[in-house]
Amino acid sequence: MSMDDEVQARSVMLTSDWMAVIRSREHAQADAYLDDPCAAAFVTSESEASYDEIRSKGLPSEVVPIRGRLGDLTLLDSGVRQAVCLGSGTDSRAYRLPLDQGFSYYEVDLPGQLAGKAELLGAAGFTARCRVEVVEADLREDGWTVALLAAGFDPEQPVHWIAEGLFYYLTKPQGRALAEAMSVLSAPGSWLTFDGPHDRFLTDPARQDFLREMSERGSPFVGSFRDPVEWLAPYGWSAQAALHGDIAEGRCDWLPPLPERLRTTIQDVWFVRARQA
Ligand SMILES: C[S@@+](CC[C@H](N)C(=O)[O-])C[C@H]1O[C@@H](n2cnc3c(N)ncnc32)[C@H](O)[C@@H]1O
Repeated sequence: MSMDDEVQARSVMLTSDWMAVIRSREHAQADAYLDDPCAAAFVTSESEASYDEIRSKGLPSEVVPIRGRLGDLTLLDSGVRQAVCLGSGTDSRAYRLPLDQGFSYYEVDLPGQLAGKAELLGAAGFTARCRVEVVEADLREDGWTVALLAAGFDPEQPVHWIAEGLFYYLTKPQGRALAEAMSVLSAPGSWLTFDGPHDRFLTDPARQDFLREMSERGSPFVGSFRDPVEWLAPYGWSAQAALHGDIAEGRCDWLPPLPERLRTTIQDVWFVRARQA
């Protein structure tokens, strides 16, 4: 990895701290859309200040509790016995959902990103509810599936793939390669949930200052989707996709209605759930 790549990886890794701030604040709401009692364990005064700054510049924060709820509902309804969280960062499903020790939860992220996570959650009183395997890998490179299989992932069993806040940081060819690799490892009955910007997000003049800010920080938004259902079809996925506006206006029957605070600012972001036949 070159020096530039390392700086960029560090910047992208920091975005996960912002997600913890968002989830902890949502959890504190009386009508929380997402229950994440673990998120506060990751929050520091520095991450709050950094988040407040990027939020004021246009970070689409509303999407975080929505995709989190989508992932929770899908995981608990799917009946699968293994899940892979790609770009897991401060995701804490293995510590907060009612899973059992026969369930395997794979957390995949860039090398170093997940170091100390279990200890930090442990110090806050949270222990894993299921078997957790940490896989250090760069999802832009081919080797990640080998590492996942070495950690015990069973490609013969259905899996729930969770990719939240990840495709933003992968170019279209990188995202496509990731989808292909996931699909090869998806037994019938597997599920996939993810979010990602609509193509318009990256060209919207009103978002250019925010996008420039993200680039200057070393964590540019480079991925987007025109039509995620069409995008997944070649790999055998039967998908449903909704934009934030569809959910806000009650046109999505697979997510609960949003509280007012999550529908005052509409983000041009897709939410997707898909099943492998
Ligand atoms: C915005 S955070 C989202 C974290 C978590 N999924 C969530 O929703 O809270 C993006 C995460 O993706 C990880 N990530 C970005 N690019 C990656 C790559 N090429 N390989 C592995 N992980 C990556 C980052 O390190 C970070 O933890």
